[in-house]
Amino acid sequence: MGKLRFFLGNYQFFSLLLFYLYSQAFISSSFTNSLIERPTCSHNESQALLQFKQTLFFDCNASFLCNPNYGIAAFLKTDSWKEDTDCCSWEGVTCDSDTGRVIGLDLSCSWLCGTIPSNSSLFFLQHLKRLNLAFNNFRQSNISAKFGQFPNLTHLNLSNSFSSGQVPSEISHLSKLVSLDLSRFSLPFPSDQEPFNELKLETTTLKRLALNFSRVKELFLDGIDMCSVDHGYLMNLSSSLTSLSLVDCGLNGTISDRIFRFPNLKLLKLGKNPELVVYLPKSNGTSTLEILDLKQTVLVGDLSGSIRGLKSLKSLNLASCDLNGSIPTSLANLSQLVVLELPDNNFSGWIPASFANLTELQHLDLSYNGLEGTIPPFANGLSKLVCLLLPSNLLNGTIPPWVFNLPSLKLLSLANNRFIGHISEFQSKSLSIIYFKNNMLQGHIPRSIFQLVNLTVLDLSLNNFSDSVELDMFSELQNLEFLDLSHNSLSLSTKNGVNFALNKLHFLSLSSCNLTEFPNFLRGSKVLTILDLSKNIIRGPIPQWMWKVGKESLLHLYLDHNSLTGPVQFPWKNALTLYLQSNRFQGVLPIPPVQTSFFSIANNYMTGEISSSICNISSLRIIDASHNNLSGKIPSCLFNFSNTLSVLDLRANGFHGTIPTTFVEPCSLENLNFHGNQMEGPLPRSLANCRNLQVLDLGSNKLSDTFPNWLETLPMLQVLVLSSNKFHGFVNNSGARLPFPKLRLGTLKI
Ligand SMILES: *[C@@H]1O[C@H](CO)[C@@H](O)[C@H](O)[C@H]1NC(C)=O
Ligand SMILES: *[C@@H]1O[C@H](CO)[C@@H](O)[C@H](O)[C@H]1NC(C)=O
Ligand SMILES: *[C@@H]1O[C@H](CO)[C@@H](O)[C@H](O)[C@H]1NC(C)=O
Ligand SMILES: *[C@@H]1O[C@H](CO)[C@@H](O)[C@H](O)[C@H]1NC(C)=O
Ligand SMILES: *[C@@H]1O[C@H](CO)[C@@H](O)[C@H](O)[C@H]1NC(C)=O
Ligand SMILES: *[C@@H]1O[C@H](CO)[C@@H](O)[C@H](O)[C@H]1NC(C)=O
Ligand SMILES: *[C@@H]1O[C@H](CO)[C@@H](O)[C@H](O)[C@H]1NC(C)=O
Ligand SMILES: *[C@@H]1O[C@H](CO)[C@@H](O)[C@H](O)[C@H]1NC(C)=O
Ligand SMILES: *[C@@H]1O[C@H](CO)[C@@H](O)[C@H](O)[C@H]1NC(C)=O
Ligand SMILES: *[C@@H]1O[C@H](CO)[C@@H](O)[C@H](O)[C@H]1NC(C)=O
Ligand SMILES: *[C@@H]1O[C@H](CO)[C@@H](O)[C@H](O)[C@H]1NC(C)=O
Ligand SMILES: *[C@@H]1O[C@H](CO)[C@@H](O)[C@H](O)[C@H]1NC(C)=O
Repeated sequence: MGKLRFFLGNYQFFSLLLFYLYSQAFISSSFTNSLIERPTCSHNESQALLQFKQTLFFDCNASFLCNPNYGIAAFLKTDSWKEDTDCCSWEGVTCDSDTGRVIGLDLSCSWLCGTIPSNSSLFFLQHLKRLNLAFNNFRQSNISAKFGQFPNLTHLNLSNSFSSGQVPSEISHLSKLVSLDLSRFSLPFPSDQEPFNELKLETTTLKRLALNFSRVKELFLDGIDMCSVDHGYLMNLSSSLTSLSLVDCGLNGTISDRIFRFPNLKLLKLGKNPELVVYLPKSNGTSTLEILDLKQTVLVGDLSGSIRGLKSLKSLNLASCDLNGSIPTSLANLSQLVVLELPDNNFSGWIPASFANLTELQHLDLSYNGLEGTIPPFANGLSKLVCLLLPSNLLNGTIPPWVFNLPSLKLLSLANNRFIGHISEFQSKSLSIIYFKNNMLQGHIPRSIFQLVNLTVLDLSLNNFSDSVELDMFSELQNLEFLDLSHNSLSLSTKNGVNFALNKLHFLSLSSCNLTEFPNFLRGSKVLTILDLSKNIIRGPIPQWMWKVGKESLLHLYLDHNSLTGPVQFPWKNALTLYLQSNRFQGVLPIPPVQTSFFSIANNYMTGEISSSICNISSLRIIDASHNNLSGKIPSCLFNFSNTLSVLDLRANGFHGTIPTTFVEPCSLENLNFHGNQMEGPLPRSLANCRNLQVLDLGSNKLSDTFPNWLETLPMLQVLVLSSNKFHGFVNNSGARLPFPKLRLGTLKI
């Protein structure tokens, strides 16, 4: 274009236009190449790049943090790197337009894996100005000191790629550096990924870096271990500094308010350093700061005053800072605010009505505080809100209409407050999360909810909604992942039949919903993890299709308190909780899947013996099979197969035989109940191994023994029932200083 402008003065417009079109059409032909004389990549650099590629391997898991949803997609950039082609045309490579030297290399999110040792050919690329290797997996190698030897490097980005060893002090030799990003996110890792080790920074390195980086504007060191660093040296950083990010660095000590006085600072993030004491700035200056993150730090100073000076602020995060009193009304002066996060503090009082002036606000999070009163009636304000999070406060009154009229709203959480009254129809079609759990809302469920095609979470549980809802109304909600309507006064019906599936649903709770059938929309589900249909009026056997729902995925199943009949099986091989009590199931007791912890089938009509194969389920903590028609002997392995079993409730059955003598230490039993069976013989002395026993109920059996004075030493025992047996002898003190120290209820009648 430079050449074009030169010609503009000398030629007629028409001929110029022709020339321009001509050169554009042949832009890649040899004709224009010779005209523009664009140099190609040198053989040396081309070889260096190819060698670098060869020392690495590709693993599509290496860039798992790159998510197209957040605007960064991972792909194999080096795929286009081929011998005998101009390396300046390779993906990720930038050449100087005059010399053809490689001056930029961006291999971020490229699925690269391996190590970058100091003899890597990467370091031959001496003309590099920008180097980005972010979001790959070089976690096995240290950051080589050679990274400090690119004489003209201005941008170095190794974020989320390296994680072990020291940040080499040689990095400070990069005297032309403008931007350094060594940050790493603290995200949960997929189970097959080795966790990041710590990347460490020493005081001497920070000191040198602050002195030598005379042009540095951006410094991102999040997640680097700096717990032993004297961060006072940060104050020596260049006055060109615009961004300083030190989230989750283990910083301690105090940081002076001078940190706010870098004249060009726009971004300051010191969050997640719970030991760090931050002195807030005085209000006399006007700060350039746009993004301030001080979550989980200790703040000192006058917050309300400091805020006044931060006129340019767009994003403020003061989560978990132990703040109390009223929310400072001066926040309403920050007219540029887009993001305001104050969750998990001790704020009390009302939400300031002056927030109506925060017209740019998109994200407001005041959750987990002690805010009271009603939501203020912001007439037209806050109309840009995308996210409104007010859960877990003491807010009351009705929800004002503006909340339902926000055109861009995606997330709305008002859970765990004291809201009353009816809720209105939603005007926003973009809503993705509605979380109203645990209030006192009443009336109908707004029908507009059933049109929110992007809804992923709907939780109206624990309110007073009263309505009849047909399940086919959910048919549009194909993105639903979490649905909880439990504990209202709802009546869910399947009048018109249901012939759609909600294939993304992984949490469904319709407890106490007057449901008469299993919701057909679960048919074929492969992702369901929690299903709670307890306390309904579902009758008859579990339908065949239901045994296939969530076969691999289901973890928690609650079908208790219905009128289900027929035999039971457990095809859900990963289940942890199986609550089937208070139904009319019959047949033999099925053995739960191998990881089950909580198993209740109490109050049914189960018959036969307990198979000793139940002892293969070593994670069991609760077995409740009380109030059935079980019989036979209690498998002796039940008392030595596991050191997790804490409740064994077999009361009101027909078991006979002696109590097994196999209670071994460590015995974790807290509640042992054999009441109302036909057990006979003596009480095994090994019961004394069960030091955690709180309830021992053996009443109404045929046990015969001397009175078990030896139980008096059990330190936690609160309930002891031995009545209606054949115990004999005396209840005497066998010498323990404090017999039955915790006993509250003892029915010892012999
Ligand atoms: C290529 O590299 C060799 C050494 O590896 C060096 O001697 C030579 O000068 C380089 N040539 C160019 C054009 O950079
Ligand atoms: C990537 O991760 C998936 C599971 O997360 C695993 O099955 C696969 O083997 C991994 N691939 C490589 C190349 O490690
Ligand atoms: C780097 O050095 C190692 C030995 O330390 C050697 O195995 C490897 O081949 C060398 N790599 C290159 C690219 O020279
Ligand atoms: C670094 O930049 C300077 C000034 O632009 C230039 O003269 C020099 O050749 C560059 N050095 C390298 C190794 O590219
Ligand atoms: C580093 O690279 C990643 C991935 O391209 C990018 O998201 C991040 O913003 C970069 N850091 C800086 C400081 O530019
Ligand atoms: C990384 O550096 C540490 C010292 O900071 C050293 O102990 C370790 O051996 C180095 N690991 C590798 C793979 O070079
Ligand atoms: C900060 O933590 C380090 C390492 O735990 C400790 O040695 C140092 O004394 C602490 N400094 C302050 C000011 O608490
Ligand atoms: C603000 O006041 C402090 C003392 O309270 C002073 O050191 C500082 O220079 C003042 N800043 C401006 C910008 O006036
Ligand atoms: C909102 O700002 C205007 C000036 O822009 C001011 O007059 C008004 O008092 C403010 N409202 C509240 C509630 O603070
Ligand atoms: C709402 O809360 C405020 C402040 O706690 C209280 O004064 C008011 O009486 C409450 N209103 C209702 C209807 O409970
Ligand atoms: C639902 O989400 C999709 C994808 O994010 C978006 O394109 C669409 O506009 C959304 N629909 C509504 C009604 O907001
Ligand atoms: C549940 O249904 C029964 C009749 O089947 C009805 O009497 C009861 O009121 C319903 N409960 C609710 C909460 O709608």
